[in-house]
Amino acid sequence: MPETALLIVAAGRGHRAGGNGPKQYVKLAGKTVLAHTISAFIDLPHVSKIITVIHRDDEALYREAARAFGDRLLPPVFGGDTRQQSVLHGLRALAPLRPGFVLIHDAARPFVDSTLIARVVDGLARHEAVLPAISVTDTIKRVKDELVEETVDRANLYAAQTPQGFAFPLIQELHERAAKEKDVQFTDDVSLAEWAGVRVQRVEGRANNFKLTTPRDMEMAELILAASQQMETRTGSGFDVHPFEAGDAVTLCGITIPFDQKLKGHSDADVAIHALTDALYGALGEGDIGHHFPPSDAQWKGADSSVFLTHATELVAQRGGKIINIDLTIICEKPKISPHQPEMRQKLSQIMKIDAHRISIKATTTEGLGFAGRGEGIAAQAVATISVPLEDDHV
Ligand code: CTP
Ligand code: MG
Repeated sequence: MPETALLIVAAGRGHRAGGNGPKQYVKLAGKTVLAHTISAFIDLPHVSKIITVIHRDDEALYREAARAFGDRLLPPVFGGDTRQQSVLHGLRALAPLRPGFVLIHDAARPFVDSTLIARVVDGLARHEAVLPAISVTDTIKRVKDELVEETVDRANLYAAQTPQGFAFPLIQELHERAAKEKDVQFTDDVSLAEWAGVRVQRVEGRANNFKLTTPRDMEMAELILAASQQMETRTGSGFDVHPFEAGDAVTLCGITIPFDQKLKGHSDADVAIHALTDALYGALGEGDIGHHFPPSDAQWKGADSSVFLTHATELVAQRGGKIINIDLTIICEKPKISPHQPEMRQKLSQIMKIDAHRISIKATTTEGLGFAGRGEGIAAQAVATISVPLEDDHV
């Protein structure tokens, strides 16, 4: 079979989906809708060239979403005001590569799977245009001004999906021809084939391959992914020590405790948050605080350590993960920690955006032994347990 290219249209604004920002860049289970869509095609042997049509305002969003695919994608091209124009721009960019066939797919259909794609590609062996579609199951009414006019016989009704497959020269010619005609605007590409009288073969679509259109579709997508996403549990540990120096208060777990000394350090020396942040980085396999916030960098001098914990928390979220619980032990003779525990839990709960019942803060002395026992400083150790999507190497 000649080379089959893939054209993904992702230049829409997603007005009907609500939300802030186009739906193709919304993250589902830690990955953008567009990245889910590309993933469905990227390893298929019969799809070689992949191009995405994007909106000119979305360059940065696209770069981020496509980064994981490296140079396996062609450079994106900018779309137009309508889907049809966006497809035309993509076809023109593909034309010099002379693909034999092209699959045209909505970025907003992330649940397309290899079985459906194979049906379309197989169809192209015998037909110039192939449509995946599913039969309509509801009883369909024609309604005007909220009055029912008639029941439409659904026996021959199908809902069109993508990817729609075409012989490349045919669909390019149809799009170029349609662009010259006024009032020829269609919401899919098979409509152009119909308009030109080209025979189109239907193959079976897939109910899950719905187009994310409304806020409810976005919720459904979350549910589908949550149900199919296998998670793994990971733990990390962190340990930190800061010495005392002359001062009048210490900062622990983001709160200020009046004391006759302070903790010495580059930032606010919040030893508890440092141990906790390192525990989260540890669970993610993401190095440590020094790696993300080098002490050599003057901007972290005197910094509020909640910035570090917020960063680690965001990394968990970016992986599509959740913090399950953290267990923190503060080791010192003085100041006395227990009166401050409720406020500390509250503060950490705010920073990590998890319920306080998932946060344990304990304190211990070392019975006068060692540096902590001699009152030379404070140590903290933390264990963090997180849940993240199972990585491919475990599947
Ligand atoms: N699309 C496009 N260029 C446009 C309009 C739409 O590339 N000018 C793409 C969308 O990004 C989407 C697909 O065509 O992947 C199907 O369109 P639709 O579901 O209508 O998406 P939007 O136009 O983004 O949404 P809305 O109509 O609600 O604004
Ligand atoms: Mg639209």
